Amino acid sequence: MPEPFADATVRNRQPIVEELQKLLKHSTKVLEIGSGTGQHAIWFAPRLPWLIWLSSDLPNQLPAIKKWYKDFSSENLAPPIALNVSERWAITEHDAIFSANTAHIMHMREVEHMITNGARSLPNKGLFCLYGPFIFENSWLTESNRIFHRKLQDLDRHMGLRQFDDLNQLAIAGSMELIKIKPMPANNHLIVWQKNLTSTLFERI
Ligand SMILES: C[S@@+](CC[C@H](N)C(=O)[O-])C[C@H]1O[C@@H](n2cnc3c(N)ncnc32)[C@H](O)[C@@H]1O
Repeated sequence: MPEPFADATVRNRQPIVEELQKLLKHSTKVLEIGSGTGQHAIWFAPRLPWLIWLSSDLPNQLPAIKKWYKDFSSENLAPPIALNVSERWAITEHDAIFSANTAHIMHMREVEHMITNGARSLPNKGLFCLYGPFIFENSWLTESNRIFHRKLQDLDRHMGLRQFDDLNQLAIAGSMELIKIKPMPANNHLIVWQKNLTSTLFERI
């Protein structure tokens, strides 16, 4: 049986890794959430050789990830782990989180758990990088994003593109500060927050 294959990862992997090479230059271990087929992991790990890449996903995705790992192993790829963002998180001692194309698939409650638990799991100065299509200032960036959102909602009314402001509020509540919004090809964005336990932003009156 061939490995499960996601076309989009082949199109977006190079622009994403170019950003990660700059963003993660001081990171030592990245937890990837919702790795899917694992194709991003096997492409990114050899291009970020100074850090450990740890993939994770729901338990039913792990066989697919392991198949890709078997054929494209890299010394800095840690064995993938089962992680449901809404359940207890394994302690993995990562200092960065990366997740691609998950926020519009997860239900909003799960997105909340991903950001809240993700923020909690990071050390001070740790990075949270979230890639995908998002809604900014309540408006559709493109007609194709609107159509994609509608398609997702027809499949499951709890799926769909998320408002950047909602995600950012969750990040702020988790003591994370927005450091970058990078427009990416095909109407996607890479949003980057940094855990900042000292910022006055989070001071409570
Ligand atoms: C569209 S795929 C994205 C896969 C990959 N990151 C990519 O960009 O090709 C969304 C992934 O989110 C995962 N996912 C959905 N709900 C999840 C949850 N509650 N916890 C962790 N992962 C979840 C799915 O299993 C799936 O692999």
